Amino acid sequence: MFDQDKDTGGLQGKVILITGGTSGLGAQCVLRLALNNASHIYFTGRNTKKGSAIIKETHDAGCTTPLTFVECDLTKLASVKAAADKILSEQHRLDLLMANAGVMNQPPGLTADGYEVQFGTNFLSHALLIQKFLPLMDKTAELPGSDVRIVQLTSTGFRGAPSGGIRFDDLKTVQNFRVLGGMMRYGQSKLAAVLYAQELARRHPNIISVSVTPGIVSTELVSKQNAFHRSTIWLSAKITQGRIYSPKEAPASQLWCAVGPRNEIKQGAFYEPVGILSKITTKYTQDEDLAWRLWDWTQSELKQWLD
Ligand SMILES: NC(=O)c1ccc[n+]([C@@H]2O[C@H](COP(=O)([O-])OP(=O)(O)OC[C@H]3O[C@@H](n4cnc5c(N)ncnc54)[C@H](OP(=O)(O)O)[C@@H]3O)[C@@H](O)[C@H]2O)c1
Repeated sequence: MFDQDKDTGGLQGKVILITGGTSGLGAQCVLRLALNNASHIYFTGRNTKKGSAIIKETHDAGCTTPLTFVECDLTKLASVKAAADKILSEQHRLDLLMANAGVMNQPPGLTADGYEVQFGTNFLSHALLIQKFLPLMDKTAELPGSDVRIVQLTSTGFRGAPSGGIRFDDLKTVQNFRVLGGMMRYGQSKLAAVLYAQELARRHPNIISVSVTPGIVSTELVSKQNAFHRSTIWLSAKITQGRIYSPKEAPASQLWCAVGPRNEIKQGAFYEPVGILSKITTKYTQDEDLAWRLWDWTQSELKQWLD
């Protein structure tokens, strides 16, 4: 049984990047991993004040791991590129990239670069980060005794993705689906994380690549929803988990994927809390052609940011 307070050791010499480390699950992961002497932990977000508060909290807890908050707005690919370039200029290895930041059930909108806002924030910006760091992570994986991982946060909400799974033809529109559109667009972005993790595993087998859901957790992602959505989420938590998880207990799922026993992790898989190989699938999560197409589409969209 994985104990997130005891089993997150073995980080000596490792460099870690966690997106969305300013609140909720990401902040809890920063706090927990910082207690275990990593060489350096970077975490991102837009809220500089919260970033400083997390650093203070870890220092107050007696932790000496170097921590750096990097401002990064995932709705702007230029901001993502700048954040990645800063870290690349400072580090010669990256052992863990946890693509954690996310938004849910947003009204129709576009990112600064003209992509549907949830797809752009949750998926495409993380794909840019991953692509920026892949050469360094491939090199890190060649070092003796290395254990390099990319963990992408997803949600069983991928079951709500629109017909076709990922609507490539209108990803550069607000995709104003009529009913439950916010959750359909969220589902699409989280399906992309599952498929991208699979494809990454096929193309870079030296790096452990998985997707993971934390379960339903009482973070701001949920508390900021309107009353209708909050009660639907609470009901769903009651039915599927018995209760809603607290932000302090729920990081265990993604931490297991990040630092749990490597020989127990299935490359490319989707995990549920805690360390459970999920049986939840849709025809889209099993569609290798869709994963391939997503990879190609993403490479082509990101080309100008990677040159
Ligand atoms: N909570 C759940 O029940 C649940 C269930 C399934 C999956 N998940 C997934 O778990 C992950 C973490 O969620 P959470 O519940 O911890 O959410 P949260 O408490 O709302 O935290 C979200 C984090 O993402 C960052 N973020 C949001 N928009 C951003 C943007 N445009 N640019 C940069 N950073 C941004 C926020 O940082 P700033 O505000 O500083 O920008 C914050 O640190 C998400 O990917 C979510 O989809 C959560």
